[in-house]
Amino acid sequence: MSNKKLPKAGSIQVSPSILSADFGSLADEIAQVEAAGVEMVHLDVMDGHFVPNITFGPPVVKKLRKYSDLFFDSHLMITEPGKYAEAFVEAGVDNITFHIETEKEPEKLIEKLHSIGCSAGITLNPDTPVETIKDVAPLCDMVLVMTVNPGFGGQSFMADAAEKIITVRELVGPDIRVEVDGGIDAETAPIVAGYGADTLVAGNAIFNKPDRAAAIQAIQQSAKV
Ligand code: DX5
Ligand code: ZN
Repeated sequence: MSNKKLPKAGSIQVSPSILSADFGSLADEIAQVEAAGVEMVHLDVMDGHFVPNITFGPPVVKKLRKYSDLFFDSHLMITEPGKYAEAFVEAGVDNITFHIETEKEPEKLIEKLHSIGCSAGITLNPDTPVETIKDVAPLCDMVLVMTVNPGFGGQSFMADAAEKIITVRELVGPDIRVEVDGGIDAETAPIVAGYGADTLVAGNAIFNKPDRAAAIQAIQQSAKV
């Protein structure tokens, strides 16, 4: 269990996605972004079923928890998020974001996450309309707008999908974080921040650069709109 709180909405937070990190040295990779001053790190969990790729589960999170004090922002790209929520929370994640496409009773899962002391996020694929999260988004701590089809790092930013951020921000108001994930770098960050996103996931643009601190700084600076 971890007890870290999601940073209050409003401040721009960069959430480095370890999907593009060296999986053989994950603890060290996370230490590098922690030293660079980020408050959160994005953990992409894939099951080879909801998305055509497989990453890691609770045992890996549990080990990483020992090496980091960052807020663990997990993004579950799995078909049965409710089944594994407790295991991820016990392993040490601080937030669970799940896909609206995977859950018949999303309200119940949000309630369950809150009852076990976990921040709750809802997300939707680029082709899924904002309408589908209308009722549940205001119950969450964070709404994640996907700007690539989930499954892989390093894909191109989908500008049309990003425009959904405007509607999501209108829907949730100023107190809920709006996160964006997929193709975020110093060029696209100002666009999404302008639409109202305050939480910027970036994998390729951080972990595929030799100087992670400089890469984070560049994204952070570019988003100051
Ligand atoms: C994609 C993942 C993303 C991914 C983003 O399925 O959810 O978090 O790591 O990677 P970049 O920043 O490289 O597009
Ligand atoms: Zn993600």
